[in-house]
Amino acid sequence: MKQDNILVLDLGSSENTTIARWVRDLGVYSEIHPHDITAQQIKDLQTVRGIIINGGKNNIIDGEAIDVLEEIYSLGLPVLSVEHPSTQATKSLDAWGNEEESKVVLKEFVFDTCKAEANWNMKNFVEDQVALLRKQIGDKKVLLALSGGVDSSVVAALLIKAIGKQLVCVHVNHGLMRKNESEGVIAMFEKDLEENLVYVDASERFLGKLKGVSEPEEKRKIIGNEFIRVFEEEARKLDGIDFLAQGTIYPDIVESGTKTHKVVKSHHNVGGLPDDLQFELVEPLFQLFKDEVRACGVELGLPHDMVYRQPFPGPGLGVRCLGEIEIDRLEAVRESDAILREEFAAAGLDQKVWQYFTVVPNFKSVGVRNNERTYEYPVIIRAVNTIDAMTATIEPIEWPILLKITDRIINEVKHVNRVCYDLSPKPGGTIEWE
Ligand code: XMP
Repeated sequence: MKQDNILVLDLGSSENTTIARWVRDLGVYSEIHPHDITAQQIKDLQTVRGIIINGGKNNIIDGEAIDVLEEIYSLGLPVLSVEHPSTQATKSLDAWGNEEESKVVLKEFVFDTCKAEANWNMKNFVEDQVALLRKQIGDKKVLLALSGGVDSSVVAALLIKAIGKQLVCVHVNHGLMRKNESEGVIAMFEKDLEENLVYVDASERFLGKLKGVSEPEEKRKIIGNEFIRVFEEEARKLDGIDFLAQGTIYPDIVESGTKTHKVVKSHHNVGGLPDDLQFELVEPLFQLFKDEVRACGVELGLPHDMVYRQPFPGPGLGVRCLGEIEIDRLEAVRESDAILREEFAAAGLDQKVWQYFTVVPNFKSVGVRNNERTYEYPVIIRAVNTIDAMTATIEPIEWPILLKITDRIINEVKHVNRVCYDLSPKPGGTIEWE
């Protein structure tokens, strides 16, 4: 890592990531570390230009007050102390309440006091990572489960740049993908990976396992377990793989309370791979926030639509085809979702709305078509905005757009005779229906 680094030491404040973000927004790299980091560990990081102690002296964890180690003050690095101020700090700041003022103090600290250089950008990040990955991996092979989501796609693109065909990607189609999704993943990477891109069509296997299962949690469990089983079977077929790449990102690391966890048995992260399948982990995005992952994808030349796509749950359309999954309703979810996405893109709403999709419940209602009675399923449209997916509000879609989508779904999607718009915020409803 060549970039200057401002450390945020974690004294239990919930604002650590906000501060690290603000520093990065100034173009300077910032990392969060535990409060008890030693002076030697800070020296080993090599490019630290300053330290922010966030949370003051009187933080209590399990009944004990915690503080940073005294020795870090003797490193000769500027220290900014936030809230209950430390007497040894170079500067202190008590007003996180006022965002603008806080940012001014932070900017002065980073540039005037620490003399840090604004050299944190994705071009430098990619260059650094490519060198680091080449050093870590050498001439060995790396395996990646390529779902086609933003994180795994960016990891793939970065590894292709670093090690080319030493990367083997396995894409498992569980039959619950959106329309043309697997085809899109293959098209995006087949030129670079050729035979190193393994496509597994496991649709029938997944649908078989899900037959007769209607309880949402059980459906999720089956899909998750089966995914690991298929991936494991494919991994066993491959020879000489030493590394497993994962799209772990910074919030995952910060939330788990540790910064570095490089050589961990893969099952800790993939969630269930057996002990005898041991790999060393490669997690090249572990320093990045989500928007930085996207910027990295753009830097690597991935298409804009791919990098800025909405989130999609692991169990896919399986949690949007309510109750027991049946082929006709699953197709209705897939086709109506495709229409919704097409019309949202045409209206520019794809840039504005955080998540939008359709749901098909497992009941029918009476309708009429060409003067004949129908008895078919409804499609429910959901479109929500949120910051962190913990709460969500409803996007007030303009009437003509909703009417056009309704018209298309009723006329183009088989087995559907009604369209509803879900007005429930979260809390109230969750974002997904299952
Ligand atoms: P809920 O329904 O809990 O969803 O309000 C919050 C967000 O999480 C997504 N979601 C998932 N993402 N695996 C994922 O990767 C899952 O099993 C899963 N379940 C829900 C959901 O789409 C929404 O964005």
